[in-house]
Amino acid sequence: MNLKGRDFLKLLDFTSEEILYLLDLAAELKNKKKQGIPVDTLRGKNVALIFEKTSTRTRCAFEVAAHDLGMGSTYLDPTGSQIGKKESIADTARVLAGMYDGIEYRGFEQSIVEELAKYSKVPVWNGLTNEFHPTQMLADLLTIREHFGFLKGIKLTYMGDARYNMGNSLMVACAKMGMHFTACTTQKYFPAKELVEECEKIAEQTGGSITLTEDAMTGTKDVDVVYTDVWVSMGEPDEVWEERIRELSPYQVNKKIMDNAGEKAIFMHCLPAFHDLKTKIGAQMGERFGITEMEVTDGVFESEKSVVFDEAENRMHTIKAVKAATL
Ligand code: CP
Ligand code: NVA
Repeated sequence: MNLKGRDFLKLLDFTSEEILYLLDLAAELKNKKKQGIPVDTLRGKNVALIFEKTSTRTRCAFEVAAHDLGMGSTYLDPTGSQIGKKESIADTARVLAGMYDGIEYRGFEQSIVEELAKYSKVPVWNGLTNEFHPTQMLADLLTIREHFGFLKGIKLTYMGDARYNMGNSLMVACAKMGMHFTACTTQKYFPAKELVEECEKIAEQTGGSITLTEDAMTGTKDVDVVYTDVWVSMGEPDEVWEERIRELSPYQVNKKIMDNAGEKAIFMHCLPAFHDLKTKIGAQMGERFGITEMEVTDGVFESEKSVVFDEAENRMHTIKAVKAATL
């Protein structure tokens, strides 16, 4: 398997075998890190990290992975560069590619990261766009495989806004790996028809399946993984909170949902999560709408079924694998 020079923009661009290769490489790098065996084979290289939206996990994962591999990194924050304001994406790509060996981009439309890659002669990695979050997928697949020992046949249900980056990406990831994906939400929040059809075609080949349902109980019955994400994503206007809380509350992951899922089911969330009032936005929403939790209850979040912090750690090992494989 040779992924040298490849961009990492969305899982649709990769075969199931290539994804498995990245997962195996991540597992190997994780193992070595735990044993204190250094893997700094990319010494002397440098990477640029563009963040037009904020981040904790993705930024830290990209920086630590770069450092572990022996590379330098430059973080460009949402306000501190010329990108988009005084300099086009095409120009930025050519400037950065002259100084760096790889470029990470987190921001808005998928078309921006695709354009960056088009004009960059070095690999570009998608650190989240409105449509896709592919590095998160590798971490999630690794976490699921660590937990159950395999991926093929695993039943995963996503609850909440399934037409955005997380719902889209999980549907693609499940289809690619022969897993059974269910989007459990109201019709308005189902993933786009064209993407559903594309994933159904992939699932036909891999033995997976795609299901869309509005019924929270049917959608989570006996599943292995219950997954959710925030109801309002970065970059969305404040005005949508009221509507989202009203429309997505029936799909909150709570004890009833986890009891309905398989006996050994796990709870997953890409994080950050609104599971209590201990954040500024959580507290504001609590006051405005008289709620104490949103997409997941604190009980489920803190329960033994929750693997969210394993998932977060795996962001670093999998991002390291993407860099090691493509550089
Ligand atoms: N899951 C995730 O991408 O987290 P950050 O927004 O903190 O990077
Ligand atoms: N859907 C969320 C994911 C955060 C990792 C967002 O885009 O804000």
